Amino acid sequence: MRRLPAAIVLVLASAVVAAAAGVSPDVTEGHVLYGRYCGTCHGLEADGHGPVAPMLTRPPSDLRRLGQRYGMPLPVGRIGAFVDGREAVKAHGTREMPVWGERFALPEPEQTGRPPALDPRIRAIVAYLETIQRKR
Ligand code: HEC
Repeated sequence: MRRLPAAIVLVLASAVVAAAAGVSPDVTEGHVLYGRYCGTCHGLEADGHGPVAPMLTRPPSDLRRLGQRYGMPLPVGRIGAFVDGREAVKAHGTREMPVWGERFALPEPEQTGRPPALDPRIRAIVAYLETIQRKR
């Protein structure tokens, strides 16, 4: 039997480890992205108490309660719309100038001819948020 290249073995092994831990790579990435782009306002625990929160006119939402508001599993399109600017959240800035300074918004359908897509980074963030939703 031919030996598999070491790189492939590594990738397979890490996929097995991730599966065994019950954590998909998406969730891990989402956690990192969340810390970078959302934690300042919504808090690293997503409870709405980030360091910048007291400076805002509207309190950032407790993102552990999204499931109560929008249902589980979290509707990724609906939640994602708050992030890419299709759904307005004043504190997030505008679609053209979001507070994270970097657009999560993919090209508009009129430019691509396809329905609007969600940035995979937003999918990862929502996948992470789904793991921290409160039951009640
Ligand atoms: C500059 C501060 C700030 C940052 C950074 C920020 N948010 Fe928010 N966000 C808010 C505030 C304030 C609200 C509540 C706005 C309102 O009630 O109008 C909010 C609302 C939301 C909502 C709507 C919640 C609901 O219950 O309807 C979602 C979802 C959300 N944010 C997700 C995120 C995600 C994901 C990120 C990171 C990509 C992020 N936010 C980054 C301030 C922020």
